[in-house]
Amino acid sequence: MKLTFDYNNMMDSSIGAHGIKKSEIDGAADLHAAAYSEVLSNSGKGWQEWTESPMISDAEVAELNAFGKSIRDKASSFVVLGIGGSALGPICVFNALLHLHHNELPSNVRKAPKLYVEDNIDPERMSALLDVIDVKTTYFNVITKSGETSETLSQFIILYNALKKAVGETAAKEHIFVTTTIGKGSLYNVAVKEGFKIFGIPAGVGGRFSVLSNVGLVPFAVMGVNIADMLRGARAMREACERKNITENPALMTAFLQVKSMESGKNISVMMPYADGLRTMADFYCQIWAESLGKAVDKSGKSVYCGQTPAKSLGVTDQHSQVQLYTEGPFDKVVTFIGVQSFGSTVDIPADESADVGNFLKGNTLNELITAERKATEFALTKAGRSNYTIMLPEVTAETVGELLMYYMYVTAFAGAYLNIDTFNQPGVEEGKKATFAMIGRSGYEQKLEELNSAVKSDCYIIK
Ligand code: PA5
Repeated sequence: MKLTFDYNNMMDSSIGAHGIKKSEIDGAADLHAAAYSEVLSNSGKGWQEWTESPMISDAEVAELNAFGKSIRDKASSFVVLGIGGSALGPICVFNALLHLHHNELPSNVRKAPKLYVEDNIDPERMSALLDVIDVKTTYFNVITKSGETSETLSQFIILYNALKKAVGETAAKEHIFVTTTIGKGSLYNVAVKEGFKIFGIPAGVGGRFSVLSNVGLVPFAVMGVNIADMLRGARAMREACERKNITENPALMTAFLQVKSMESGKNISVMMPYADGLRTMADFYCQIWAESLGKAVDKSGKSVYCGQTPAKSLGVTDQHSQVQLYTEGPFDKVVTFIGVQSFGSTVDIPADESADVGNFLKGNTLNELITAERKATEFALTKAGRSNYTIMLPEVTAETVGELLMYYMYVTAFAGAYLNIDTFNQPGVEEGKKATFAMIGRSGYEQKLEELNSAVKSDCYIIK
């Protein structure tokens, strides 16, 4: 494992009264053992099939890479259609591993098509996409585990229609490949009928745990991301997360400290990466943490209304926006800093004698400045008695990103086990989905429409 985890600033020895005592960790041995066994005994089973994602064979990786290259070599643009777990993993990996201005690079430098991950149905965004891509040379990966998600299906219908108009019925089929559950769902049926290439998603891999399955691997292969390295990193992290002793297992330790903090009223979990490439890692984290742990009942059916609200922040940008609140506001947060030891570029702040400004900065590098600011913020929060811990990446590579993704899947699974909840369902989003179907006129939802219409009946509290 290449990542390191420093939990000192979660402890009372560093932050005083709001910290966790060593005796609290040591005294919860039974809880650690139960959480550990809950996750490890279900490894690879039920909804925990994601633990197996990094175990695919070299031959499978080679096949994915060959397919990816075949698309990369002919595409001017590559569009991913998906939402939630079918988009946030790919977005965060591309953000971390592609050039930060990938689409603006000249094509001979870019070496991969322009990339668009469309995870919203704002009509202006769809029109804007159609304004900038040439559908004739664009390839589309439609990703939906259920094959039924309205947002993704509507995007697919619009773009397949545009493709057929632009290149004709037969050629259009070559521009679309789908990632979905084999044998299930509307998209699968259409894909079979139309003859699209289909990549499967294992039944026990839920959306927010799917980034290392074909949901992520197919688009990564298209964009030339080093899948083999990413899976190697994920496997190394899996090994670390299978260590029995909490003091050696980063995911078990994080889960316990977060749950313990939650129990003492720290209901907000801030992720603050100090690297632009890791900015959207916080989006991935927000989804997996919120959707997995925000639950009304525990496994015995008892009302628990648990969860910790995830919040995203970017170092150093949000030092000038949110850090005041983190330092002096309520003691209701745990801040996770993510630091990078060695950045992909080094930028000097030159000793320019002609500009008599910022002399204390001259001769340093931006690398030194961002590192100093991360450590300074960590110091300030610690001094103010605020819970924080730091994850360090030696550098942002496919391997370390693979480690980080796998770590967060394990942390979430362990946290759910400590809380004794169902980590892998999302009953709270189903009602909204059904109401959407009703309003859009899907058959079978007539009763829901009646319920909706009868619910909206008051003009009170509306300001016009
Ligand atoms: O984590 C989840 O299960 C969800 O966020 C889903 O990924 C999201 O609702 C999209 O679902 P689907 O992949 O079926 O289109």
